[in-house]
Amino acid sequence: MPGPGSVILEDDRTRHFLLTRSDRFSGMLGAMIELRGLTKHYGQTAAVQDLTFTVRPGLVTGFLGPNGAGKSTTMRMILGLDKPTAGTALINGKPYHQLDHPLRAVGALLDAKWVHPNRSARAHLQWMAASNDIAMSRVDEVLRLVGLSEVAGKNAGGFSLGMSQRLGLAGALLGDPQVLLFDEPVNGLDPEGILWIRRFMQRLAAEGRTVLVSSHLLSEMAQTAEHLVVIGKGQLISDSTTKEFIERASEASVRVRSPQLDQLRSVLTSNGMTVREDGEGTDGPALVVAGVTSDDIGKLAGANDITLFELAPQRASLEEAFMRMTGGAVQYHGEGFDSAGATGSEAVARVTTQAPASYTAMGGAL
Ligand SMILES: Nc1ncnc2c1ncn2[C@@H]1O[C@H](COP(=O)(O)OP(=O)(O)OP(=O)(O)O)[C@@H](O)[C@H]1O
Ligand SMILES: [Mg+2]
Repeated sequence: MPGPGSVILEDDRTRHFLLTRSDRFSGMLGAMIELRGLTKHYGQTAAVQDLTFTVRPGLVTGFLGPNGAGKSTTMRMILGLDKPTAGTALINGKPYHQLDHPLRAVGALLDAKWVHPNRSARAHLQWMAASNDIAMSRVDEVLRLVGLSEVAGKNAGGFSLGMSQRLGLAGALLGDPQVLLFDEPVNGLDPEGILWIRRFMQRLAAEGRTVLVSSHLLSEMAQTAEHLVVIGKGQLISDSTTKEFIERASEASVRVRSPQLDQLRSVLTSNGMTVREDGEGTDGPALVVAGVTSDDIGKLAGANDITLFELAPQRASLEEAFMRMTGGAVQYHGEGFDSAGATGSEAVARVTTQAPASYTAMGGAL
């Protein structure tokens, strides 16, 4: 049974840990990613256009956009792998190439399969550590953090996608960086892997790090990120909390059925409400009224002696909200496909069908 001494020891350890943590991050506290007018043209293609936003520490920031929106291009520019046509991308106030020890300032996972296939997980990380002046002891530490200790000696070429993603994360964490960038980290993973990575990113943010993670799925981001930067066709669409984005994007409406539908319609429209037909479903014709509450409609119906069979508040699904917000900014339309004309679920299904094979796999997994 632990005596009082061990309790004190435990406290000391915690204090020591906190001290070393804040020491480690001193001078980096509040490290941020700052984009100002960031622009990238590939010939005639404007991949990224005039992007200005800031990614802050202490929370996961989702970087959301449909396929081809410019997420990877933006991340590559932040990491100095692509040269901006105009504008700047700064980490802790400096462009990437001016950072003294880049791996200790920024960790990134862009492509999990970028590993020498005949090198073991441990050898891969040891090579990275050696080339960045990072202590070798850190290699086994990060392998443990991502749960790869048992396969550390195995060749990375034989790793499953989930294991490769974990190895990529280990590489990103090697320099214990304050800033982390992950490009579609859950792409192709099974639900368990998705949950693990989601929690992992949230933990890193809770430690005070700056975490930017891209995705083309709002439903995934809604569960992972507290803040959302949304882009479409290289342009900024929204920069707000995830909650605000969802509330703003998902239109509240009320579905209503009545045996006196014509009478109800004229009462509602004469009270300034926008009414549309909901088509003939299995439960008969219905109306959908946007921007009002079920109380508003119930009161009007009661006052006019109209019987109601159904009075159901509705909220658009997350992906419907995303489709509406990115609207014309979706790059890969199917033939004859007009996102504005399609219903939300149709639109999501069609976009998924048009996505590159690697993305369709994820859509299926979810
Ligand atoms: N090296 C390149 N040369 C030419 N065009 C490019 C290059 N890289 C990206 N693009 C174009 O820039 C645009 C943005 O691409 P990017 O890969 O950044 O989008 P993304 O949001 O990451 O998409 P996805 O969700 O499919 O990964 C696309 O039109 C793409 O075709
Ligand atoms: Mg990409």
